[in-house]
Amino acid sequence: MASDLGFHWGMLNDHDRNAAYRAAIRDAAPGRIVYDLGAGVGPMSYYALRAGARRVYGFEVDPDVLPYLRRLARAYSNFVPVWTDALAGRLPEERPDVLVCEMWSTWLTDWPMVRVLRRVLRRAPGARVIPARGYHVVQLVQARHRAGMPIRLTPGTEATVFGEPFATGDMSLPVVACVTDFRGRIRPVDTVVALAPLTAGTVNAVRLYSYEEVSPGHVLPRIGTRCDELLRWLPPLRVHPGRRVRLRIRHRWDAGLRITVV
Ligand SMILES: C[S@@+](CC[C@H](N)C(=O)[O-])C[C@H]1O[C@@H](n2cnc3c(N)ncnc32)[C@H](O)[C@@H]1O
Repeated sequence: MASDLGFHWGMLNDHDRNAAYRAAIRDAAPGRIVYDLGAGVGPMSYYALRAGARRVYGFEVDPDVLPYLRRLARAYSNFVPVWTDALAGRLPEERPDVLVCEMWSTWLTDWPMVRVLRRVLRRAPGARVIPARGYHVVQLVQARHRAGMPIRLTPGTEATVFGEPFATGDMSLPVVACVTDFRGRIRPVDTVVALAPLTAGTVNAVRLYSYEEVSPGHVLPRIGTRCDELLRWLPPLRVHPGRRVRLRIRHRWDAGLRITVV
């Protein structure tokens, strides 16, 4: 059956990501039970199988990638595709020693990564998690487009940006607003960050991006499939150097991200 590889092709070609995950998996998987949560076409499962995992369960909901996981199961008798929503479906009897959960996206807004990890860690609290941590950054910007027409940007909505450095002018230094440590309990965020404007002008958006620490000390560069950013529109705000802008950030990791100027 032919299937659409879609965004999986980009991930298969993201050398930095693949090398970092492969090294972390090579370290953790030998002789272990591994859950690959959000397996896609199976690169993380493959790394675990090649590293000598005892058994690997590949969880996936997207029917387009089923043929790839079936093929992997034919090649490796200790690979078990699990065709289910990892948030709600039945979990295998065998508990995992290692969880690989590559459902990465900026500020973890695209996939239910935190909720899936919470669920599985309740059953296997000692499991080692890959990636280790995420660092989530905010910055004040002036976003601009080049369409030559006026567009009304609705505060509270957002745009996803991939590799478009000219989409924004920096209006403050970036600040790490929160850290997710996937090895512990991930709590909702309710924090206030103070951002120092670099120049006088009008801010119309917050730029949000994240750094992924795959294994302790190994933070991925923000290139390839890790370069996504969100622009969250704010009501236009005049800023001046020396007068900090305080943003309240609330993020439950599953029910939207709220940002307000306080
Ligand atoms: C960022 S992709 C990563 C794919 C693969 N792990 C890789 O490294 O190339 C995240 C994957 O998680 C899957 N996914 C999202 N939500 C899921 C869920 N609730 N249960 C199982 N898989 C899910 C998506 O379909 C997608 O294939």
